Amino acid sequence: MASTQSSLEGKVALISGGSRGIGRATAIAFARAGADVAVASRKLPDLEKVADEVRGLGRKAMALKVDVSDSKQIHAAAREVEENWGRIDILVNNAGLHLVQRFTRGNEDEWERILTVNLKSHIVFCRAVLDGMIERRYGKIINVASDAGRAGSSGQAVYGAAKGGIVAFTRNLAMETARFGLNINCVSPGMINTAMWNAVREDSPKLAEAYERLLPGKRLGEPEEVAAAILFLATDEAAYITGQTISVNGGVFSA
Ligand SMILES: NC(=O)c1ccc[n+]([C@@H]2O[C@H](COP(=O)([O-])OP(=O)(O)OC[C@H]3O[C@@H](n4cnc5c(N)ncnc54)[C@H](O)[C@@H]3O)[C@@H](O)[C@H]2O)c1
Repeated sequence: MASTQSSLEGKVALISGGSRGIGRATAIAFARAGADVAVASRKLPDLEKVADEVRGLGRKAMALKVDVSDSKQIHAAAREVEENWGRIDILVNNAGLHLVQRFTRGNEDEWERILTVNLKSHIVFCRAVLDGMIERRYGKIINVASDAGRAGSSGQAVYGAAKGGIVAFTRNLAMETARFGLNINCVSPGMINTAMWNAVREDSPKLAEAYERLLPGKRLGEPEEVAAAILFLATDEAAYITGQTISVNGGVFSA
């Protein structure tokens, strides 16, 4: 069996939301494992820094300016990687937008934005890469959900709906594509030490404190710990796992 250090040798990966947090940690983990990595997000300077880190590890890197709420930009990004590097072996749908808000205080524009960035973009990205993956009979897709979509919590009804939608989408699409040899899975983070969780701490300190009190290990997860699960699902060692959701949450939720 190949060692995890070289388990993505020669593979081509595309990671949305790759400019920071879990996406950045995944880009580094993939590059260490031997993959060439394209990172896609809205801010080119941040993406270029991650791309430089990937190159520093001896792999090819591409920084793609993409707003995932625009389907055309998603399709264009996938095409650019395929045209330049020949194919996409691994897609990590990681871009996400979080908003803690009492449900009755939200409005339809906000709900639509949350659903578009967190759920529709995953669907569109999958559509953009699937033809090539099916044709080559090879592809790994890892969708980043959230335990808000599995266990539920206050202030996250629409975000949780989007994330729960990702879990259901993943399970269904996995059924449809398993016969082509594809693996489509979810990683579902709990509370992870990134800009996203820090924003919850700043905007809703009491809520964040209440959640953090539930942490059995009394610490947040690190983005690298989520990236490790994503990396495993991207390898051929996980070839018989599809349609599944793995929580990386320090044991806090039982869902
Ligand atoms: N941090 C946590 O506690 C936590 C918990 C559960 C799930 N998650 C999920 O993990 C994923 C990564 O989050 P993170 O914690 O690294 O947060 P983060 O805010 O650091 O990173 C989010 C990434 O998504 C990108 N993004 C957001 N909107 C975008 C858009 N419209 N177009 C393109 N890119 C966009 C950002 O630029 C950034 O690169 C998200 O899907 C998030 O929902 C995080």
